[in-house]
Amino acid sequence: MKALCWYGTNDVRIDTVPDPNIREPRDAVVKITATAICGSDLHLYDGFMPTMEKGDVLGHEPMGEVVEVGSAVTNLKPGDRVVVPFAIACGSCYFCQKGLFSLCDTSNPNAEVARKVMGQSPAGLFGYSHMLGGFPGGQAEYLRVPFADVGPLKIPAGMPDDKVLFLSDIFPTGYMAAENAEIEPGDTVAIWGCGPVGQFAIQSAWMFHAGRVIAIDRVPERLTMAQAQGKAETINFEDHDVYDRLMAMTGGRGPDRCIDAVGAEAHATGSFDAVLDKAKAAVYLGTDRPHVLREAIMCCRKGGTVSIPGVYIGFLDKVPFGAAMNKGLTMKMGQTHVHRYLKPLLQKVEAGEIDPSFVITHRLTLDDAPGAYQTFRDKQDGCIKVVLKP
Ligand SMILES: NC(=O)c1ccc[n+]([C@@H]2O[C@H](COP(=O)([O-])OP(=O)(O)OC[C@H]3O[C@@H](n4cnc5c(N)ncnc54)[C@H](O)[C@@H]3O)[C@@H](O)[C@H]2O)c1
Ligand SMILES: [Zn+2]
Ligand SMILES: [Zn+2]
Repeated sequence: MKALCWYGTNDVRIDTVPDPNIREPRDAVVKITATAICGSDLHLYDGFMPTMEKGDVLGHEPMGEVVEVGSAVTNLKPGDRVVVPFAIACGSCYFCQKGLFSLCDTSNPNAEVARKVMGQSPAGLFGYSHMLGGFPGGQAEYLRVPFADVGPLKIPAGMPDDKVLFLSDIFPTGYMAAENAEIEPGDTVAIWGCGPVGQFAIQSAWMFHAGRVIAIDRVPERLTMAQAQGKAETINFEDHDVYDRLMAMTGGRGPDRCIDAVGAEAHATGSFDAVLDKAKAAVYLGTDRPHVLREAIMCCRKGGTVSIPGVYIGFLDKVPFGAAMNKGLTMKMGQTHVHRYLKPLLQKVEAGEIDPSFVITHRLTLDDAPGAYQTFRDKQDGCIKVVLKP
């Protein structure tokens, strides 16, 4: 089959790889009908994520049609349309029982490697390095889905792919970011990053009854989407000092809830800490550029909450932890427990409360994927979200 494979920094290619098959009784094989490129894929494309190997198949936002199931999968049958969560979870371990699906204790066969880096291993993820399982991803014609009796969500007939595809990741991720922010009715919520995750965090902040949403980015069309679709006030971080602007907008108190929907590859213009971060990342002294995390901690009102859906990878430098501690902040974060949100968020789509397809700017074929990675990474051509059809 055809698949999008990683070969190194800035080097992804369409390759022919072996078709997946059923290996375990709880597997299914899904023929992909739609699959997306995520900001998390950019951390692989940009070479930030360790334990990638040449030829790895990328992609973790897939959906499609079940073509084969293992003997233990009784809830799915060939022909069913499903959305597949990006995290792989067994459904029965200590963590899955608690609903912490992205922390599943049994789905990462390379848990020992992750344990050395993080103390304990999170769940295996599709197409996201060998440390996180080495599972081939879903930017391909077919996908092997382990624990298929637990993960995939069946899609009702008549619901188009575009409306449900993002249940695989970014809609639940924006939603969990808002939930983790502990929004109380009327709160002012500041959201760094107006990429796809930021856009869903904005939508979700209103669902949790925010009073104001302030979105921060520098890409004009993303700020426009935050205003038009998201009804957010916006700050362009190239035109303003974000701290000064947020203080002015909140009467000097700071936003009640701050969401970092940017993560490890934050940009900043000129400020000293950002220049230092870039230099260090370039010579591998530090992997992450935590500019937004620093800013969110400094801006958040005393006793507020910093929610971090943005992905961080390694060791972070100069995070003002003293400010976080002394201001009594709560910090919540994590890879999204997608399984938890599938049904409730599908219901919101069915009820017409939200049409997640608003973020799609590019509909392309799988063959177009290498160019699409570059277009998405460089924010060219108005690109906000790419959907690929194999
Ligand atoms: N927690 C999870 O489970 C999960 C799931 C999906 C994505 N993510 C992560 O969420 C983050 C965002 O994903 P995305 O798909 O929206 O990516 P994206 O790259 O499209 O968007 C990031 C946005 O941040 C903006 N940005 C950069 N520096 C900034 C700054 N200093 N201040 C404000 N904005 C800034 C960029 O201009 C861009 O629009 C990534 O780190 C991704 O890995 C996490
Ligand atoms: Zn993702
Ligand atoms: Zn589990």
